[in-house]
Amino acid sequence: MSGESLFPEPSAFLDAEGFIRAHTRLQVPPLVPEMRLFLADELTPLWQATEDTLGKKGLEPPFWAFAWPGSQGMARWILDNPQEVAGKRVLDIGAGGGLAAIAAARAGARAIANDVDPMAIVAARLNAAENGVTIEGVCADLLDTTLLDTDLDAEFVIVGDLCYERALSERLLAWLHRLARTRRVLMAEPGRAFAPRAGVRPVGTYVVPTLFDLENRTERTVVLLEIEAG
Ligand SMILES: C[S@@+](CC[C@H](N)C(=O)[O-])C[C@H]1O[C@@H](n2cnc3c(N)ncnc32)[C@H](O)[C@@H]1O
Repeated sequence: MSGESLFPEPSAFLDAEGFIRAHTRLQVPPLVPEMRLFLADELTPLWQATEDTLGKKGLEPPFWAFAWPGSQGMARWILDNPQEVAGKRVLDIGAGGGLAAIAAARAGARAIANDVDPMAIVAARLNAAENGVTIEGVCADLLDTTLLDTDLDAEFVIVGDLCYERALSERLLAWLHRLARTRRVLMAEPGRAFAPRAGVRPVGTYVVPTLFDLENRTERTVVLLEIEAG
């Protein structure tokens, strides 16, 4: 499935890839130095440019333009433990710029990047190409769906840094615990306010350097959490 074909307003934003190239530069995520991604240096100017280009106000931030601590921790774990994903179908929920999905593809998985933001899907595929792999992209809100009944069924579901809003986190966690009855579900959690407090088992910890502009701090500790069936 192509991210571009799912772009909701192609007439308002014909060249998503050109937009990404114009507003980012290739950078190395600190915890994953073997990768290069199209990343922004500051949030606000890019957010403004996105709203101006689309002619819309009140858009969600351009999360896709940053390698959040979650995807850095998840990518590090995957690249250091490739046998955990090799040969599997891996679905990255809320993939943003796709770092964790790209790591899974590099480790030999068939990787699918999912996000509700069409720009994220375009960015993830662009970043994948830059790192010499191909990933699939699915622009949809899959939370609450019965993944088992769709062609998106994946043996391994990964999630990075999605517990930053209460409603989103509650929906996500309820869904992930259900999914964990029939497959492996791993979350990379950098200490957000609505992180799971129970029903999880820590399997690793990483300290990730962060942009002060985004996090108001220079590092975050990311815990990899095995989500238990519920
Ligand atoms: C903080 S970013 C994290 C991105 C990436 N996982 C990382 O760690 O770098 C959160 C991402 O989740 C996406 N998102 C929010 N709600 C979602 C939903 N219901 N389904 C899929 N993606 C969602 C946002 O568009 C955004 O790209």
